[in-house]
Amino acid sequence: MDSLDDFAAAKLTALDRAGLRRGLVATARGALHVERNGRRLLSFSCNDYLNLTQHPAIKAAAIAAIERFGVGSGASRLVTGNHPLHGELEARLARLKDTEAACVFGSGFLANTGIIPALVGTDDLVLLDELSHACLWAGARLSRAATLTYRHNDVGHAADLLRAHRGRHPRVLVATDGVFSMDGDLAPLVELGRLAREHDAWLLSDDAHGIGVVGGGRGSTFAGAVPADVPLQMGTLSKAIGGYGGYLCAARPVVDLMINRARTLIYSTGLPPATVAAAIAALDLIGRDPAYAARPLAKAKAFTRRAQLPEAQSPIVPIVLGSAQAALAASRRLEDEGFLVVAIRPPTVPEGTARLRLAFTAAHPDDEIERLADLVRERVHA
Ligand SMILES: Cc1ncc(COP(=O)(O)O)c(C=O)c1O
Repeated sequence: MDSLDDFAAAKLTALDRAGLRRGLVATARGALHVERNGRRLLSFSCNDYLNLTQHPAIKAAAIAAIERFGVGSGASRLVTGNHPLHGELEARLARLKDTEAACVFGSGFLANTGIIPALVGTDDLVLLDELSHACLWAGARLSRAATLTYRHNDVGHAADLLRAHRGRHPRVLVATDGVFSMDGDLAPLVELGRLAREHDAWLLSDDAHGIGVVGGGRGSTFAGAVPADVPLQMGTLSKAIGGYGGYLCAARPVVDLMINRARTLIYSTGLPPATVAAAIAALDLIGRDPAYAARPLAKAKAFTRRAQLPEAQSPIVPIVLGSAQAALAASRRLEDEGFLVVAIRPPTVPEGTARLRLAFTAAHPDDEIERLADLVRERVHA
């Protein structure tokens, strides 16, 4: 074995010992069930909140786009990869989020790692909620700006940091998940928007888990009594929207700057036509039936009531168990009962907070939610 293999093997052994080694499991998905390791399980681990990955109208839109435009984009959007569907999707996203313009990226991860370095650099500051998603951290690091974190959802702490540090940096970006991906709670966007505006800082909200399922389907900016002042509304098309791709909704000059400066947009191939067409069809469905968008949260609330857990704020419900081993054991117990609830371990979540993370979808059957809640109450959280 050479030094490269030695290095990899030693790392893996250390991960194994800590119960943190991960592996890929082939998983065939249907609307609600998955097949893995020869078993059919009801999944509570897919972010397909509106079950749109399997929707006939969306599949048909994707197939029609392939027939018309082909499979791949063939180049970066700035070269020849900007097929006509891109503009249509961006117009719809801007309408949904009430912004002047929108810009579609290859994925949510690519969006954040493109947006942040296009806006801030070495002299600047990125202020992050401590539980922000990995791709907000990655974007902040790529930007080479200084980074500071405020305690989770603690607007007072963010205000203290802005008072102490704002004057030292020409530009400050405040970044947070809109709906926290591993905790399911919502960021106080109205208050953060006011605070950022007061300090001439720019608020970026990652609404990966908000679009389609909170705020009447419009996302976390619209979840409160009044819309929050969020000039940078980023998100993904890969969860409730059912496909793939990322986006930024913002003012026209900001979007035009992305087209000129966001490296993950400029130096990466445009999204395939079928993927863009699927997102347009999904937004059509969500726009036509806002009541459907409310269903995943209603199901999550029914679960938390019956399981005697704190009330769900989004379709994501965490059950924090502590050690990686405890989370893995609980996941296996539920798998024995026919449920897929994947254990989430560090570094995805902080040390000592390994958990089960449940994601509820519009189509989960009520009787199965009740059975799962009873199991969690009696055998997991007891
Ligand atoms: C909060 C959050 N932001 C961004 C992403 C990345 O989005 P994508 O899967 O489109 O890369 C994810 C999940 O994957 C997420 O949970």
